[in-house]
Amino acid sequence: MRELGVGILGFGTVGAGVVDCLQTNSDLIAERVGARLVVRRIADLDIESDRGVTVAKDILTTDAEAVIQDERVDIIVELIGGTTIARTLTLAALSAGKPVVTANKALLAEHGDELYAAAEKHNTDLLFEASVGGGIPIIRALREGLVGNRIVSICGILNGTCNYILTRMELEKLPFDQVLKEAQEAGYAEAEPSLDIDGLDTAHKAVVLACQAFGNPVQMNDVPVHGIRGIDPMDIEYAAGLGYRIKLLAVIKHDGESLELGVHPALIPQSQMMASVSHSFNAVLVQGDQVGETLYYGRGAGRAPTASAVVGDVVDAARNVLAGHPRRVPAFTQQSIPVVLRPMEDIQSRYYMRFSLKDQPGMFAQVAQILGSHGISLASVVQKEARAGAAVPVIMLTHVARAGAVLDALREIDGLSTVGAPTIWYRIEDFGQ
Ligand code: HSE
Repeated sequence: MRELGVGILGFGTVGAGVVDCLQTNSDLIAERVGARLVVRRIADLDIESDRGVTVAKDILTTDAEAVIQDERVDIIVELIGGTTIARTLTLAALSAGKPVVTANKALLAEHGDELYAAAEKHNTDLLFEASVGGGIPIIRALREGLVGNRIVSICGILNGTCNYILTRMELEKLPFDQVLKEAQEAGYAEAEPSLDIDGLDTAHKAVVLACQAFGNPVQMNDVPVHGIRGIDPMDIEYAAGLGYRIKLLAVIKHDGESLELGVHPALIPQSQMMASVSHSFNAVLVQGDQVGETLYYGRGAGRAPTASAVVGDVVDAARNVLAGHPRRVPAFTQQSIPVVLRPMEDIQSRYYMRFSLKDQPGMFAQVAQILGSHGISLASVVQKEARAGAAVPVIMLTHVARAGAVLDALREIDGLSTVGAPTIWYRIEDFGQ
């Protein structure tokens, strides 16, 4: 049987998972592909540590360039991460005409244009299923299964760390800092958690998804990002009392004229399937104009699920090499529809607002009056009893309102001397409910 050589750059958790998957399912994959996929070289700065998989010592090297240039290596897997060395090596591999499989969402979100152009120029494949949603084949679903659709919306829970923290905060009624600390101690959250909890990782994934659906004019700078740092358990509890759950969402919506794009915590009705996505799981809800709603759910991170997605791409690359036909499916959706981003102020949504009001006559009416004067209509109002000496929490859910009007109204309200603390507000994603 013919063999194809795989070269892996980066022998960390996912790299070891890829080797494990290719070894464990070697015969099965060989039968399906019609060629055996053999890991011929692996590059990493550390070639001594035990990764829990058996590889011949002589395939390990610290020289990544040597792996790219090795004639016996047909497909390169980039698992280094980051946007510097990974970019240089990916470009080098594409320039050598070798297909590259990567899990690197930051690299794609920040240098996607350059990498797509290089893949096109050198007539080779750039594949990145593992960059979004770990083991969930969401890129393939958008690129192939749903290619006959105009994409109406994509909403994703795309960061396992954030979802894990929010789930534990809700179930155990714990504060953000404590859950984050425990998650770090247990190895669920990174020691430097900012990329995850401040929403950047989700934003990188949102850009990759938006490029799949709408072509690649979508850039990182276009995405307003709000993470989950500092979410108060009080809001999770009040939201639950009103029938909602707070999740960090990537929201991508096209109304036929403009594209709404953002990452933010949002309230989701508990009756929606997206609200049931708990702990470190990911889910993506895609609406196409023909298919309607489709939902993809699974493990968004971790060694084996991510390796599953990487190996899927390696197989795709191998099939194209065998067929002598690279780029059968282009790296991103080719389309000439101009993507006009909707200004943040023009976004229409329902809102959750928690006001901290001093316990004085007329306060409540004053807030409602200001909201009304900005055209914001109330759907539901709850006032909690004040704890001794503290401000009174008043929770209001609005009907659909323009974000610009909400910002203006809250600026006015928070300027009142009788408001004890800045108003907390989140969007509500009803998913058409
Ligand atoms: N750190 C990510 C998460 C996984 O917590 O979901 C890799 O993108």
